[in-house]
Amino acid sequence: MSAFVVIGGQWGDEGKGRMVDLLAQEASIVARYSAGDNAGHTVINHLGKFALHLVPAGIFYPDKLCLIGNGVVVNPQVLLDEIEQLESRGVSTKNLIVSDRAQVLMPYHLRVDELEEQARGSSALGTTLRGVGPAFVDKVARLGIRMADLIDPAALRSRLEMVLPQKNVLLERLYGAEPLDLESLHATYVEYGCKLKPYLRDTAAIVQEALERGEQVLLEGAQGSLLDLDIGTYPYVTSSTPSSLAAGAAIGVGIGPTQIERVVGVYKAYMTRVGNGPMPTELLDETGDIIRREGPAPEFGATTGRPRRCGWFDAVASRYSVRVNGVTSAALTRLDVLDNFPAIEICTAYELDGERLDSFPATTSILERVKPVFEEHSGWRKDTSGVRRFDDLPKEAQAYVKRIEALLGCPIDIVSVGPEREQAIRR
Ligand code: GDP
Ligand code: IMO
Ligand code: MG
Repeated sequence: MSAFVVIGGQWGDEGKGRMVDLLAQEASIVARYSAGDNAGHTVINHLGKFALHLVPAGIFYPDKLCLIGNGVVVNPQVLLDEIEQLESRGVSTKNLIVSDRAQVLMPYHLRVDELEEQARGSSALGTTLRGVGPAFVDKVARLGIRMADLIDPAALRSRLEMVLPQKNVLLERLYGAEPLDLESLHATYVEYGCKLKPYLRDTAAIVQEALERGEQVLLEGAQGSLLDLDIGTYPYVTSSTPSSLAAGAAIGVGIGPTQIERVVGVYKAYMTRVGNGPMPTELLDETGDIIRREGPAPEFGATTGRPRRCGWFDAVASRYSVRVNGVTSAALTRLDVLDNFPAIEICTAYELDGERLDSFPATTSILERVKPVFEEHSGWRKDTSGVRRFDDLPKEAQAYVKRIEALLGCPIDIVSVGPEREQAIRR
């Protein structure tokens, strides 16, 4: 019995969806364990191009169960839309199961996300405005509504009678916004409950039983480790609990940590970030713009469409995330994006006030001030998108991957050279 986790090792959008679509072949169950529809996981395979926000990226395999675990917050409308879109494109969702313990994202979470961002002014976090932060705040405050409540109209009403007056005070008195009406909210969410009832089950029991049968379970992370509430660039982070780090995976699907055997960390061959917060290797010049636009999948957010900030590979930040996740092997994605550069830099350390810094600092005020120490590598200036064997990569590209491997301190056993399922090199 064993579970393995796929996590993002940087600031999100490393290509987790693409890796899960590939690695799902090894598993009988694919389960999302944290976050909400702030995630945007792109998959390109024989069925087309998809951007998934809640549905696990194993959904394209008719023989796999896909679970949305107890650690996820679910916006019912977003989930229903995603199911409808998949079905309309010929992807069956009959194997999709949603935890009855998952939290429900409510309209006041969307409003509060927007109003809080406005109130932060120049310190805005640049959230995805999907209401996910406020939904997790309510979970921790024990004000949350769970999927199981949606199929029990009386329980839902009594929850709303307790929670909604508090939310309306917040909306009206703090923000001068319109209150929400209990009756229409209740009716809408009872309706969601009717539509989603066939999908609701105790997903933890399903995972536990599969592990007892000796099956492999893939736990799909969201976001990136540097956006984590505890270890990320606080306060410019996301607010999932359980965390999207590997350690959160067990909690988010309801198994013990001893059942996780492997942690696959997904890393881009350079860095990107959407939203605000420090990013030491960010390139604000033309080079950053070239990285953003290069290749078949330009760097624009899968959830918000925002341009991603781009910069050279940051080995200090990436190695830090290898350690906090206990990454056992890494997948390096988007190597093909660097195909046309004459020279490529890797940040191997930071410099702060003339002193060398090898560790990732705790505060954004320090991270904003550090200067990256770069090591220059020769580019390969050849198309790698058709390469399927490591030895067939140009020797400069091989050297680049091996150098990152040494800096991460864990083996890179997959190199991705394009967004499509087959565009991968297994070592
Ligand atoms: P996720 O959130 O980690 O699943 O990543 P996203 O889907 O948000 O962003 C990754 C982007 O890179 C998507 O557009 C993918 O189609 C694309 N992608 C993934 N792997 C590769 C690769 O090796 N090369 C290229 N060019 N694009 C890739
Ligand atoms: P995937 O799973 C990249 C970022 C937002 C913002 C911060 C807080 O596709 O990698 P939130 O809406 O979560 O309160 O926003 O976190 N963020 C992501 N960035 N990829 C993601 O998910 C992200 N999910 C949240 O841009 O900076
Ligand atoms: Mg994404």
